[in-house]
Amino acid sequence: MYHFEEEAYRKRVGWFCKARFGMFIHWGLYSIPGRGEWVRSNEEMPEGEYLPFFENFTAKDFDPTAWARAAKRAGMGYVVMTAKHHDGFCLFDSQLTDFKSTNTPFGRDAVREFVEAVRAEGLKVGLYFSLIDWHHSDYPHYGDRYHPMRNDPKFENSQRNFDRYLDYMHGQIREVCSHYGKLDLLWFDFGYDHLRGEAWRGTELVNTVRTLQPGVLIDNRIEVSGEGFGSLYRCEPTPYHGDFVTPEKFIPPQGIRDVEGKPMVWESCVTMNNNWGYCPTDHNFKPASLLIKKLVECVSKGGNMILNVGPDGDGNIPWESLEILEQIGTWMDKNGESIRACGPSSLEKPEYGRITQKGKRLYVHIFENTLGPLPLMGLKKEQVESLRLLDGGRAVPISTSWVHSDYPEILFADLGADPVLPDAVDTVLEVSLKG
Ligand code: GLC
Repeated sequence: MYHFEEEAYRKRVGWFCKARFGMFIHWGLYSIPGRGEWVRSNEEMPEGEYLPFFENFTAKDFDPTAWARAAKRAGMGYVVMTAKHHDGFCLFDSQLTDFKSTNTPFGRDAVREFVEAVRAEGLKVGLYFSLIDWHHSDYPHYGDRYHPMRNDPKFENSQRNFDRYLDYMHGQIREVCSHYGKLDLLWFDFGYDHLRGEAWRGTELVNTVRTLQPGVLIDNRIEVSGEGFGSLYRCEPTPYHGDFVTPEKFIPPQGIRDVEGKPMVWESCVTMNNNWGYCPTDHNFKPASLLIKKLVECVSKGGNMILNVGPDGDGNIPWESLEILEQIGTWMDKNGESIRACGPSSLEKPEYGRITQKGKRLYVHIFENTLGPLPLMGLKKEQVESLRLLDGGRAVPISTSWVHSDYPEILFADLGADPVLPDAVDTVLEVSLKG
């Protein structure tokens, strides 16, 4: 019977719940055609049509230090890169396959250079690892829900030995957990149909991981995907439960609580356009102004946001993404205190924005100004030590204006005569509470 160790769990998630903001990097062979990381499945592409990308993978501009610095510039606390995606291509020098970056013209162990570069920037480092593998001959082909050859009877599975595939996959996890130093996060992806939990030999897999990387954080996708919460949510943790829930391209309307009502650790994984992998025809980039507000929303609901970049085949992060990261970083430089190590407040969400909290400090995120003084619903004057704008520290007086004299029970902040907020995206008012 698996015994869930609450104390060890709380210790494991500590840095994660402080960081609040991370970078996801989806990069691999699929970055060459630039039609997203599911291109083989979506186009039912035979292996023979995919191999030219392997033969031409030069990644001439690969510069993980530049990636890590872009993450740091944006105020991110951790970076997670795909070590192996569903196509089965390994960005690390696995001894269990020839389908790896060190056998391409690029010729390098990208994972090793990545983890070293991220650590050198003082950030936490994670690896994404696909449980699914469309390259391996023992992985189900015909009739699988997603395999590129799922509709071709020639790829029937009578000679496939799934246990042999699992030995391979577990062996690669052992490699990744043994040869790349301390990993802070392993982002497995994903459970589907009958392939969940023990179908992946989940207990053995997590035991291997926890033995080799004792403090590493593991996501919930050995059990589920972006759909489903996992066994921790049901308060019946399996040995392969995830440490955090992974809503995808979505923010849970009220955060996530387990069936007993306890807040859960969760991370919304978000693309900048609509693709994880490089896709130059996808111009639907979310503006920084939106992503800043979504980051605040995640934190105000007790979660993290990991924001994705999809470098091109040469290793260049798209300029649109770099611009967005720069703009987010400028806001984070001035307001990161209202994100890092923050969480939900017991106060209700104000109609003009959101509230995050860290101990005796409330951060009132003002997305739009009010007419007249700003109401701080649920707060009493005697609770408040001081008010100030987080950016620049200007003290903000409690309003004594007559315009709200009919509402003596509500506390109002006087933001001054200028109706234009200092930060058009999110002006943060810091409220220091007494006691
Ligand atoms: C989904 C996608 C996968 C992506 C992952 C990131 O599982 O299928 O391509 O890597 O989400 O969260």
